[in-house]
Amino acid sequence: MIHSIVQMGYLISGIGFILGLKMMSSPQKAVRGNFIAASGMILAVVLTIIYCLYVQPVIPYVSLLTVAVAIALGTIVGYLISYKVQMTAMPQMVSLFNAMGGGSAMLIGWMELQHGVQLAGTWIILSAGAMIGAVSFSGSGIAYLKLSGKKVEAANYGVRTLGFFLPLLLAGGMLIGHSWFSSQAIAITVLIGIALVYGVIFVLPIGGADMPVVISLLNSFTGMAAGLAGIAYQNKVMIIGGILVGAAGLLLTLLMCKAMNRSIMNVLLGAFKKENKKSKGDVGNLGVIQETDASEVALNLAYAGKVAIIPGYGLAVAQAQHACHQLEKMLEEHGVETIYVIHPVAGRMPGHMNVLLAEADVSYEKLIEMDEVNDQMDAFDVVIVIGANDVVNPAAEQNSSSKIYGMPIIRAHRAKSVVVIKRSMNAGYAGIENELFHLPNCKMLFADAKKGLNDIATAMKKF
Ligand code: TAP
Repeated sequence: MIHSIVQMGYLISGIGFILGLKMMSSPQKAVRGNFIAASGMILAVVLTIIYCLYVQPVIPYVSLLTVAVAIALGTIVGYLISYKVQMTAMPQMVSLFNAMGGGSAMLIGWMELQHGVQLAGTWIILSAGAMIGAVSFSGSGIAYLKLSGKKVEAANYGVRTLGFFLPLLLAGGMLIGHSWFSSQAIAITVLIGIALVYGVIFVLPIGGADMPVVISLLNSFTGMAAGLAGIAYQNKVMIIGGILVGAAGLLLTLLMCKAMNRSIMNVLLGAFKKENKKSKGDVGNLGVIQETDASEVALNLAYAGKVAIIPGYGLAVAQAQHACHQLEKMLEEHGVETIYVIHPVAGRMPGHMNVLLAEADVSYEKLIEMDEVNDQMDAFDVVIVIGANDVVNPAAEQNSSSKIYGMPIIRAHRAKSVVVIKRSMNAGYAGIENELFHLPNCKMLFADAKKGLNDIATAMKKF
């Protein structure tokens, strides 16, 4: 009886995960989706404890106490971290959580194999889960350090070669480890050790700002590891959860690569496509830079009919989302139609801009995906580019020798006039010159994003 109730409950949890994930693809429903998925997880944990107590009493009383203490500690620490974290530090937190997931999958496999298993199939499933979890654990740890700005340098050639060799060693160990060592406990401990080293080598050469792509891939690894553990335990909710995380992580990885027009191998090898020598010479042909000030921008905005705001990484760094929303409200009060155009990889993590602007109470209806307006950019009187660079670089469409050639961009250059708010002529993430800044319809407002926006808002009060 209890067995059937628990299995039914697992099914409900699984439906909660799927529903939650689906809802997270819409900003309006994301919070509710998160709540539903989290409720599904709480239900799964409670059911598992009930199952262990009444159906398969493998957990003695003391272990149950340990589980309760671990859950309480995890809840408190998780709550405190989530409450304090800044939006710009979100990628670090995701990688830390991911390391926890990978580490758990690693420990499950390690523990289960301490007493050995009879079937080679069970060994393969458990050892694969443990090794993938270990790669995810140490890889996410390195990703965390890189994203926190710690100098964790790229690997040299020898280490990269090791990076190709180790997965083969792990695969071999997984296939023959069942009978290879007299003790499976030793075999899995050695394999996990190698997998931990491999996780470090795997992430070391990758550029810090490419980390979101890698985290998403490591997240997918964690999902796979949990799913494999679920198969070994014959636990349906672990299998469903693992498959969902594994598939979602992989899809997100591929989508991000597509939005940057880079192959997954290019990201993993830590390199942009090599720049053609010719493109460096092209920089000399660019037009002069026109500087502007807050009063001139305010004047142009006050008399505009349609305005588009393009937020980028610099807006996030400057925490300028509230100032941006303030200016948008002023424009609306002046009768200026204002929208935000969002690039899929603007910023440093997926959905970065949407979450940031939602935090400042910007209405979801005002956030327009790049593809929806890109063909009508000439209808805008003014486009304000705030701390964005690569995502508005026309070279991606016009200069076949540029290293970002082929990356989808927002066609800001087609607008009647463009204002770019940034602090200097420094390049963006891709490290290249932006041809937009030199066009006759573009003016530069050199300022920190928040200060620049506040100055424009102050100047607007005169109109
Ligand atoms: P970027 O091209 O990196 O440009 C950001 C610009 O912001 C910089 O040129 C910088 O210029 C400016 N800036 C920095 N701090 C500022 C501040 N306090 N106030 C004003 N401006 C400031 O950003 P983007 O256009 O958003 O493009 C994102 C890039 O990241 C793309 O190349 C993308 O491929 C890459 N990337 C994204 C992701 C995801 S998932 N989002 C993942 C990996 C890589 P100044 O120093 O002159 O101010």
